[in-house]
Amino acid sequence: MIKDSVLDKAVQDLFQNIEFQAQPSGLYDPLRYMVAIGGKRIRPRLCLTTYGIYANDFTQEILQPAAGLEVFHTFTLIHDDIMDRSPLRRGHETVWIKWSEDTAILSGDVMCIDAYKRVALAPAKVLPQALALFSKTAAEVCDGQQLDMDFEQRGIVPMDEYMNMIGLKTGVLIACAAQMGALIAGADEHSQKCLYDYGYQLGLAFQVADDYLDAYGDEKVFGKPIGGDILNEKKSWLTVKANELGAKGLEEALAAPAVTLTEKKEKIARVKAIYDSVGIAQAAREAIGQLSDSAITKAADASMDAEGFEALKRFADSLVSRAK
Ligand code: IPE
Ligand code: IPE
Ligand code: MG
Ligand code: MG
Ligand code: MG
Repeated sequence: MIKDSVLDKAVQDLFQNIEFQAQPSGLYDPLRYMVAIGGKRIRPRLCLTTYGIYANDFTQEILQPAAGLEVFHTFTLIHDDIMDRSPLRRGHETVWIKWSEDTAILSGDVMCIDAYKRVALAPAKVLPQALALFSKTAAEVCDGQQLDMDFEQRGIVPMDEYMNMIGLKTGVLIACAAQMGALIAGADEHSQKCLYDYGYQLGLAFQVADDYLDAYGDEKVFGKPIGGDILNEKKSWLTVKANELGAKGLEEALAAPAVTLTEKKEKIARVKAIYDSVGIAQAAREAIGQLSDSAITKAADASMDAEGFEALKRFADSLVSRAK
């Protein structure tokens, strides 16, 4: 079992020392920028956590694949910000705003390839499984992102369709991170599967929290503009659940055009008032707690010592209470 303090230091060192090709700088500077502005790094942290349950020290064979998961995630953010027309990420300008859309597309592409190179440094004996898991995950994230965009064009969707969509766009990568650590550490297949399921449920909780913070968070802490999902007519957890609870006028309020800054502010306030009328903030906090509990139940089936299980509980708790 590897201690939290050792893990914290490993994650910090990994991203402080990460290197990308120098030239052409127009292609690689956005990669350096995205790493420099940080992020929570929950995916590599989770990957190293599950690894640390079954192994005693970190080598490049786990550190590089863990970094690859974060690099892949960061690539999805660069493209997601173009798709969502989002100006702010991690409290800083998004790549498409700071450079251009063309740059964001190509820097994102090369970042995805960089991620593959790092995952491919997994130990030879598990490399086919590691690459298969990663490729399946990467394609599913695209599936989820497409559904997310398709939903913008539809009326409010049922909860099961929403959960399937967030499972794809967000759940599977966190699930992959949890399984990857166990796979590379040599854990048995059943435990790997339990950890995948743990990560998937945690990923659902994580995306519901993201949707909640998008409307109710503090922009300075969250690092993204508040109300962006409402302006994009996203079918967020808040919208889907408020609809289930019988909120009145929600679909019209969400579809109303808003061009000027004042109109946008008014629209966000109007939709949030509808959310509030059915107590959505409390409902979201409860759903996040339930999904996190279900993650822990999945992890309980994996073979590990009590200390490992405690580490997974701590990890889940840190996500439930997050403000950023
Ligand atoms: C944002 O992910 C996209 C979602 C899946 C909700 P994170 O909240 O992990 O973003 P960073 O990496 O910490 O900036
Ligand atoms: C993004 O979901 C999920 C992926 C990037 C795959 P969001 O669009 O909600 O993420 P944020 O809120 O922009 O970080
Ligand atoms: Mg998006
Ligand atoms: Mg987005
Ligand atoms: Mg979001």
